[in-house]
Amino acid sequence: MFPRVRMRRLRGLKLVRETRLSCDDLILPLFVDENLDGKKTEKRPINSMPGQFRFSVEGAVKEVAEARSLGVKSVLLFGIPAQAKKDEGGSEAFNSEGVVQRTVRRLKSGSEGEGRGVVVATDLCLCEYTTHGHCGLVEAEAGAERGKGRVLNDATLEVLGEVAVSQAEAGADIVAPSGMMDGMVKAVRERLDDAGFSNTAIMSYSAKYNSALYGPFREAANSGYQFGDRSGYQMDFSNAREALREVELDISEGADIVMVKPALFYLDIISKVRERFDLPLAAYSVSGEYAMISAAAEQGYLNRAEVVLEGLTAMKRAGADLIISYFAKEVAETLSRPRQ
Ligand code: PBG
Ligand code: ZN
Repeated sequence: MFPRVRMRRLRGLKLVRETRLSCDDLILPLFVDENLDGKKTEKRPINSMPGQFRFSVEGAVKEVAEARSLGVKSVLLFGIPAQAKKDEGGSEAFNSEGVVQRTVRRLKSGSEGEGRGVVVATDLCLCEYTTHGHCGLVEAEAGAERGKGRVLNDATLEVLGEVAVSQAEAGADIVAPSGMMDGMVKAVRERLDDAGFSNTAIMSYSAKYNSALYGPFREAANSGYQFGDRSGYQMDFSNAREALREVELDISEGADIVMVKPALFYLDIISKVRERFDLPLAAYSVSGEYAMISAAAEQGYLNRAEVVLEGLTAMKRAGADLIISYFAKEVAETLSRPRQ
């Protein structure tokens, strides 16, 4: 007891630090935009995410190489198809010449200095590829209120399997189903195994909440929905125990990595999942988290590098093993500076 015990004796000593954020934990999300095909520009800024861009295939290769040089060893790719290629069924998502497939092949056949050795994960969803913007197939005739509950879960699973195989064929190391369809992990695992891709890993967006923090992403990925909302398939932010059920089901279906998304408002969920399950756990710090911190920092209201380091460390402290963040490059730079 005091005065013999003085907590301040060890305070600030790196030796007793409990949580260490490392470059090895980071995954950088990247948008590859087919609408930039044939254009001179290699990247186009995203308004609501200052400092983030949509890249052409070659632009993405350069970005991956730069991230790699900063110490970021994994990326998560999102595709934005040419506008005219969207259809009701999202069929462009499994085109072997689709923008994601081309980017993965390019990265995997790239030379040293082009990001060789980088772990490539691909987001596996339909919302960027469907005209209606939902994450699955929707009932054709249901009209204006068809969003909620009208996404055709089981029919969507077939398509997801197709997309997974096309991404694995291109060379993806990890496929990441993000549409919150029931049974999606099982469907994807079976299709991958049948097609001979038993070594392609599945990182499932297991506990993905219906969050207002995805707003900037929908601008970035051009994936806003035309009607309804996503509450029929994404989770209610009031629920925590339900997340444990979602994770448990994904594990039983064969997920290799499970995910909680978003991250900062959901640290309790990360912590609960960590306590209950032993799989690698990813936290997705989403576009809205990036936008909030960027905007405040731009105003001079807070110190960007410090807040980013604190936020991402909090995700690890809560129990995440991997962190998917638009801040990956800059936090890698911060971590490489001597003081940290
Ligand atoms: C699409 C998808 C979304 C995000 C990742 N995959 C958006 C959504 O569900 O509307 C969000 C990522 C972010 O906000 O950074 N399935
Ligand atoms: Zn989706």
